[in-house]
Amino acid sequence: MSSNSLSRNGSGVHDGSGLRSRPIVIGDETFPYSFGRGCVPEIAAAIGNLAPDKLVFVTDDDVLARYGRELDTLAGAIPALILSHPAGESMKTLDCLTEHLETALRAGITRRSVIVAFGGGVPGNLAGLMASLLFRGVRLVHVPTTTIAAMDSVLSLKQAINSGVGKNHLGTYYTPEAVFTDVEFFTTLPERELRSGLCEMAKNCLAIQPSALPGLRAVIAGGALTAPDSLLWLLEASIAAKSAVTVRDTFERRAGLVLEYGHTVGHAIEICDHRARGAAGLPHGTAIALGMLVAAHISHARGWLSDGEVGVHYEIVTGLGVEPVLPPSVRIDDVLAVVADDNKRGYLPLHADTVPFVLLRALGRPELTGELPLTPVQVREIRAALDVIVQPSASAPIVIG
Ligand SMILES: NC(=O)c1ccc[n+]([C@@H]2O[C@H](COP(=O)([O-])OP(=O)(O)OC[C@H]3O[C@@H](n4cnc5c(N)ncnc54)[C@H](O)[C@@H]3O)[C@@H](O)[C@H]2O)c1
Ligand SMILES: [Zn+2]
Repeated sequence: MSSNSLSRNGSGVHDGSGLRSRPIVIGDETFPYSFGRGCVPEIAAAIGNLAPDKLVFVTDDDVLARYGRELDTLAGAIPALILSHPAGESMKTLDCLTEHLETALRAGITRRSVIVAFGGGVPGNLAGLMASLLFRGVRLVHVPTTTIAAMDSVLSLKQAINSGVGKNHLGTYYTPEAVFTDVEFFTTLPERELRSGLCEMAKNCLAIQPSALPGLRAVIAGGALTAPDSLLWLLEASIAAKSAVTVRDTFERRAGLVLEYGHTVGHAIEICDHRARGAAGLPHGTAIALGMLVAAHISHARGWLSDGEVGVHYEIVTGLGVEPVLPPSVRIDDVLAVVADDNKRGYLPLHADTVPFVLLRALGRPELTGELPLTPVQVREIRAALDVIVQPSASAPIVIG
């Protein structure tokens, strides 16, 4: 992994540049995450301190059109190459990776060059993989501009692109030099993108750090999710919650599996809805929110979560604007068929009709099998919980408290 030439702020407080800085510790790896409001010039100065001979910006066409001026500011006087592609998952392909790598090499990048991911999780993942491959590893800086990227993907070392067979099949783990963001970026996100990231953030509060729930409630009650103070709080809380489990789990294969809360069924709902409605299907985080409701109902049926704790799930999810109902385009049988192929298979020895699942004993307390936050769940339990979110008024214990 690359060495870090940016001064790291171990105290996790102000670094004197107008940016606040938090050390992110993922297993043996550490990097600083610095952020603020209206701080693009400070970010540019910090990137300049890395003394790169060239910057390679990896972005998408929409981000470039909207934030071209900020990109120029980030580059400053440093020679820069901009690698852009139409936005979306079609960028996370081997073809695009190859084209970007060849272009960067032909442009004369060296081991002193720095790859800068500028955009959402898609350019972030592609740039991460590029940085890990070029000369067996060049320096990587993330400048996330979506809530998913800033509050979720950059807090992980996972970098991946898609294969023809499935999502995120081709990847590696790679540590950035640093992450920088300006919360002003998030104010231009379409509502569905903004909320999608906040649902992942809410997942971390429910499954890992319920002590952050009062703060999240206050942000939701304030009604202005894009107010700078709200966004700064959400970023701080995301860093604290996700770091709490990745600090001892570099590869997210042990304690970090709790980050999969809501994902077994949520991801299946997302896939089925995209098959049915294409790009109009539920965004990832929204589908995960529904997956969390399903998980909460299973825990409740086992006598683990109380009515009140299920009610907290509903309160937070609906507070973030998610309708707590399975879309009519999604059939339960199809969801169960996708669930049977879940990528957490292999972590537990299982009987035929069971699936490994993150279930909560209580808010912030996953049920464990050995050290893994996974437990076998029978397909009939999942079906019963899905039935509840198809007809929520029939039996859902919606108790707000
Ligand atoms: N590595 C990990 O652990 C991890 C975790 C979560 C997600 N991911 C990956 O991240 C990807 C999803 O990330 P995403 O949702 O950020 O997708 P994305 O990068 O495609 O961004 C979503 C859309 O928002 C637009 N956009 C970006 N910034 C904007 C801004 N400030 N204002 C207006 N529009 C803006 C983009 O152009 C794009 O159209 C997936 O591929 C997923 O696999 C990885
Ligand atoms: Zn997710």
